[in-house]
Amino acid sequence: MAFELSTVVPWGRTLDEYKMMFVLSDEDLKKSIASFGDGPASFNFEMKRLNNNVVSFDPIYAFTKEELINRIRETKDIVMEQTKQNKDNFCWTSIKNLDDLEKIRMNAMNNFILDFEQGKKEKRYIPHELPNRTSFSEKCFDIGLSSHFLLLYSKLGLNFHIKAIDEMLRICKEIRIFPILDLDAKKSNLLEQIIEHYNNKYDISIMQTNYEFQRNGNKLLVIKHNN
Ligand SMILES: C[S@@+](CC[C@H](N)C(=O)[O-])C[C@H]1O[C@@H](n2cnc3c(N)ncnc32)[C@H](O)[C@@H]1O
Repeated sequence: MAFELSTVVPWGRTLDEYKMMFVLSDEDLKKSIASFGDGPASFNFEMKRLNNNVVSFDPIYAFTKEELINRIRETKDIVMEQTKQNKDNFCWTSIKNLDDLEKIRMNAMNNFILDFEQGKKEKRYIPHELPNRTSFSEKCFDIGLSSHFLLLYSKLGLNFHIKAIDEMLRICKEIRIFPILDLDAKKSNLLEQIIEHYNNKYDISIMQTNYEFQRNGNKLLVIKHNN
């Protein structure tokens, strides 16, 4: 079934947020990074400006810049209203209030939009839908990231998650998934089963992060090849 943009609510985070969510050290930032479900985040744009290497994957990259701008316009007020209704589910510390949130997210998405066409030419933005196979070879990336996609959308089910993580682990030496909560801010019911599935063949850890916007969303799942 073709991927429809109308099913996506584009919402993009920044390099500072990625650094905190994924505990990315200065050394990590210099490694080759694949970022899945990367959407309209400004991570790739900001990393490129620092001469670092990120390849972003997302089905929305199949659409045109204008289609993406329109979809961001259509959905922005809805997301802001939903966040306002659920204000107590978020920690307003580093992001101070709703105005601050809107400014940070819109700034990130504007930077993504400015970079999108050039980045697509440079193959930094690749249209790709997990769990499909990518064109990349085994372990060609040092780190694979998923911010606010895997585990969060737990309704996609265990089978989807296992296939998606398998493909990420095929092309990445380690993967990091943040947060480990679902959309109701509860620990994702898939977490234990995923850990059980990969535990024998991989090194698995859950790390505490300094990033917490979704209340209690301050933990990161890391799965590493052990050879
Ligand atoms: C909440 S956004 C997160 C964007 C970005 N990672 C961030 O944290 O700012 C979730 C993203 O997952 C993408 N997505 C949806 N289905 C997907 C799939 N099957 N494979 C990969 N990405 C998908 C959406 O297009 C969207 O950009």
